[in-house]
Amino acid sequence: MRLQEFQRLYFLRVFNCFPLCYVLYFLLFLALALGACTEQGKMGEQLKQVAEKTLSEQKFAQFDLEFLLGEEHDLEAVEVLVKYDHTLKHEQKYKAYPFSKVFASLLAQGDYDWIQASDPSKILITYKCVDGYNASTTLDVALSQESYIAFTDLNSETEAWTGRMASKMPPFYLVWEEVPYDDHSLLWPYGLSKLTLTPYEAAYASIMPKENLEGFKLYETHCLKCHSLNKIGGVMGPEFNYPRNILSYWEADNMWAFLNDPKSFRYNSKMPPITYLERAQFDEIVKYLRELDQMPRDPS
Ligand code: HEC
Repeated sequence: MRLQEFQRLYFLRVFNCFPLCYVLYFLLFLALALGACTEQGKMGEQLKQVAEKTLSEQKFAQFDLEFLLGEEHDLEAVEVLVKYDHTLKHEQKYKAYPFSKVFASLLAQGDYDWIQASDPSKILITYKCVDGYNASTTLDVALSQESYIAFTDLNSETEAWTGRMASKMPPFYLVWEEVPYDDHSLLWPYGLSKLTLTPYEAAYASIMPKENLEGFKLYETHCLKCHSLNKIGGVMGPEFNYPRNILSYWEADNMWAFLNDPKSFRYNSKMPPITYLERAQFDEIVKYLRELDQMPRDPS
């Protein structure tokens, strides 16, 4: 074979086979890439499961505010003018620590990576008060705007707290600068002494409904801080599910009437009237409580 002929043949062969090679290479690449993707997808899924598992493991942090803020610290107190104090129902001025600063310094004191690494809407924060009021909300709500840990009433010139506040507010009172009077989504715990943080789902495992999530949310916002369920929640009012569900001995209509005007049932009732709920919302709460009655009771 002459060189020229050889070259031509060779060229043709290579040339002929090139597109095919490309197609094959391309297919191989595609297969590998696809494989890698699904592998990655699987790994992502596994990682997610691990993350969820870690989140639902019993994690818990408790901060004793009285102790921690009583010690030496470098947090600076500020003056806060509260436009409408939801407990006192008027404008009020306090000396207080900004909550975000306190919170950051608490987290800096220990190994709280699980709090920092979690979605704040999945972490439950509970304000524990000396009178047994345990108000909880998710961390995203607690940090949605600045709140203040108040320790002195600035309307008084002599004492830390004046009048009826003296027996109610200490050691701390959580306030917000500017929340409209009809916004009940934020908490104003007084007699505040401790904070606890725990993953939301683990904390509420035994009271999470399968169906009536809306009723649960409403109960969580408006009742749980005073009425525990399976011993979860506040203890200012009576427990509503353990050992017996409230609806097995209170009629829903009477509960509704009581809620709106407790003193029409008991002249000395300690429950503040709740008049801002609509009947339809209350009915959701009732549906949730009925579902809870069918669930296993696990008061841990
Ligand atoms: C700030 C605390 C507080 C909140 C919030 C609260 N309650 Fe109460 N509740 C009480 C207290 C305290 C009692 C104890 C009875 C009394 O003093 O009359 C009570 C009693 C009751 C009773 C009478 C039960 C019994 O057997 O004595 C019903 C019904 C009731 N609450 C329903 C509700 C519902 C429903 C909600 C939520 C929409 C709610 N309460 C929110 C504090 C609260």
